[in-house]
Amino acid sequence: MNDKKNKVKKIFDSIAFRYDFLNHLLSFGIDNYWRLKALKLTGLDKDSILLDVACGTGDVAIAARKFGVRNIYGADFSFNMLSLFNQKSNWIHGRCIQMVAEKLPVKSNSITNITVAFGVRNFYNIQEGFDSFFDILKEKGKVTIIEFRMPINIFFKILYKFYFKKILPLIGGIISGDKAAYKYLPNSVEEFDEKINMPELLKNSGFEKIEKHTLTFGIVQVIIATK
Ligand SMILES: C[S@@+](CC[C@H](N)C(=O)[O-])C[C@H]1O[C@@H](n2cnc3c(N)ncnc32)[C@H](O)[C@@H]1O
Repeated sequence: MNDKKNKVKKIFDSIAFRYDFLNHLLSFGIDNYWRLKALKLTGLDKDSILLDVACGTGDVAIAARKFGVRNIYGADFSFNMLSLFNQKSNWIHGRCIQMVAEKLPVKSNSITNITVAFGVRNFYNIQEGFDSFFDILKEKGKVTIIEFRMPINIFFKILYKFYFKKILPLIGGIISGDKAAYKYLPNSVEEFDEKINMPELLKNSGFEKIEKHTLTFGIVQVIIATK
């Protein structure tokens, strides 16, 4: 468990300074659409109290401002990712804090919305993370998860695997200087897709209403669970 925690933290601390650039490049700029779409499906407003977990450089939190949300906090265990979020957005100063998703030191029943974009796959203990989310959310509060998944269509899957396993690690490795990090990404998506049943884990933590949406030929999923 600690192995995964240290490994993932090291990866994001190492690639942080190229993360935004590579994210937009390697997703052909669609990543911002995925975040906006997920927030739209969630239905945020000016009264929302949002904690963006695994916030990284803050793109979900930044998108949430477009929905009128002002009460926004960020949580991530990578110091370098958080530093970049702070540089990008002066309104987050003092509100994005270094913490692990599995043990959020936040008051029970105090948050209306949690978002996690491309983070759950990296958690060292997903069930503990979801338990922690359930505890800090208010009654009727929602967790919105955006995560990659493997496409179902066999032909698209072959193309996608080629891009994800050959092209992406090559470009990501050259630009970030950390080839291993960009090998971890596709491997973690495939492993996550095969082994993890998010709706079941969310139910185990006590969540009841669970909606599932897929985007862009099924390569991204949005799960919204209500307490
Ligand atoms: C792929 S990035 C996603 C960043 C951002 N949410 C986005 O949409 O671009 C994953 C982030 O999750 C963070 N992370 C992974 N496991 C974590 C954990 N157990 N606790 C806190 N942060 C974690 C990493 O440090 C990294 O910043």
